[in-house]
Amino acid sequence: MLHPRILIAPTPAEAGRLAADQFEALIQAKPACVIGLATGSTPLHLYRELIAREKAGKLDFTRVRSANLDEYKGLAPDHAQSYRRFMQENLFDHICIKPENTIVPDGLAEDVSAMCQAYEKQIEDWGGVDLQLLGIGHDGHIGFNEPCDHFPTMTHEVALTQMTREANKRFFASIDEVPAAAFTMGVGTVMAARKIVMLITGADKHEIMRKAFFGPVTPEVPASILQFHPDVTLICDAAAWGE
Ligand code: F6R
Repeated sequence: MLHPRILIAPTPAEAGRLAADQFEALIQAKPACVIGLATGSTPLHLYRELIAREKAGKLDFTRVRSANLDEYKGLAPDHAQSYRRFMQENLFDHICIKPENTIVPDGLAEDVSAMCQAYEKQIEDWGGVDLQLLGIGHDGHIGFNEPCDHFPTMTHEVALTQMTREANKRFFASIDEVPAAAFTMGVGTVMAARKIVMLITGADKHEIMRKAFFGPVTPEVPASILQFHPDVTLICDAAAWGE
């Protein structure tokens, strides 16, 4: 069992700054690096910080390539709740990253298998992910890899659990509008990243943080596989860490 490097911050904003430090160090060392990005509430402080640091001249995204973890099936890129739109509004539109250097799974893909394979191939052609950002769901999901009886390897289509649809309904008019399926990098895609930063904030994530990092490794808690990754930095705010 490998142990993550653990950083604990007093507040979610400070946790975001610690995560930004990891990206800053990478981009300075390797300006044409490949980063893996996540959506959701957790990375918002990080994204604000990255925008501020680029504006302050500490960072330059001109040569950075980015691949997002997931996208809802059936949502167009400009749909208000699509993850592509989330990324544009919360990060890409405010930094110098080139549009052609950002990829998000295509929510409207008709040939799902071809889209998923092309997604993996693009990441491979870029030389693999240097730093993958992750958040965690209350059921231990990473990307949209939900608890199941195995660890999915590659980018694939997944049916969303009721728990995840409930958790995400806050962004939609009603739960009926939350898509029932999504496309996500596989657990294998995530594990292939050279370095992983898992950001966890809020007391409501304490329990699943303990299970994922200090419990048994099981596909019933997808994030627990990270215990086998050689370079994981776990960044928690005090509420998620507990005590
Ligand atoms: C989103 C993603 C998800 C979220 C998780 C936590 O791209 O990969 O696994 O990280 O659902 O979401 P928040 O941060 O909203 O609690």
